[in-house]
Amino acid sequence: MSLKSNFQSTSAIIRGIGHMAASAIVSLFHRPTRVSFLAASREFSRVYLRKPHLPEIPTGSLIDDSATIRLTRCVRNEWQTTLVELAVIVGIARERKAANIFEIGTFDGRTTLALHLNTTDARIHTIDLPGGKPGSPGGNTPGYLFHDAVKDDRITQLQGNSLEFDFSPWFGSQDFVFIDAGHSYRNALADSQTALRLLEGREGVIVWHDYAVMPGVTQAVEEVMPHVQSEVDFGWVKGTSLAVMVTHVGKPLKLSSEYSGEGKVTTKQAKADSHTTSSVAD
Ligand SMILES: C[S@@+](CC[C@H](N)C(=O)[O-])C[C@H]1O[C@@H](n2cnc3c(N)ncnc32)[C@H](O)[C@@H]1O
Repeated sequence: MSLKSNFQSTSAIIRGIGHMAASAIVSLFHRPTRVSFLAASREFSRVYLRKPHLPEIPTGSLIDDSATIRLTRCVRNEWQTTLVELAVIVGIARERKAANIFEIGTFDGRTTLALHLNTTDARIHTIDLPGGKPGSPGGNTPGYLFHDAVKDDRITQLQGNSLEFDFSPWFGSQDFVFIDAGHSYRNALADSQTALRLLEGREGVIVWHDYAVMPGVTQAVEEVMPHVQSEVDFGWVKGTSLAVMVTHVGKPLKLSSEYSGEGKVTTKQAKADSHTTSSVAD
């Protein structure tokens, strides 16, 4: 969670309160305004004043605290995870021996690089908007931190808007998904639905960044929970803004019929290559 995001959330709350105070006065005299004021108040409290509901999960239950984690590019940009969050993300991926990792929201590639550094043979896919779009890392190409640093072909970089991108070639093929792209409710919900499909039928983990700090993310994470029908641990990692969903051993991810692609799931990674716009190789 960045200062900028904090500022944006705070000013949205202040603007909302100002708007509601004005509407409250008018609504005393005007019935249609009263009806819409009550609806807006309910929506405002639902989105902005919502408290996180996920139970807290102690970090020690997710990662081996005695394991050595390697990190580089430790200077944090305002958009990014803290070092503790970064360590937890790569720690979980390693602990679970994730062989197929998908990151939604590459930015400069700091987390992608850390995932690469702490796994020996994991295949990592990462997607971001094409470079130059708002949010791109200081005018640099998304993923630029790993472009020169990584000398093998384990990272496949994708470009596209996750709201429109066709993720179906990877459905049912991933072990670990990190969601950290658009932070609106719409984006977070769409990316969460994608993540569930990427993991469907497998044992694995989804990690969300900015849970409990960005209202849209908090709402989306909690809304997808009822669509998971298999046994999982779903929680808020203590002391971080990470939410996690971890399947239980021997219990592959099963989704409700609204979300499930049962019967349509493909594990053909080969098809994935046709979507690769730039592959990081030496
Ligand atoms: C917070 S940054 C990601 C940080 C990165 N995961 C890390 O740990 O360093 C969010 C990124 O998501 C990208 N993004 C935002 N909306 C997106 C969308 N609809 N599709 C794909 N990427 C998106 C932005 O361009 C930005 O680079």
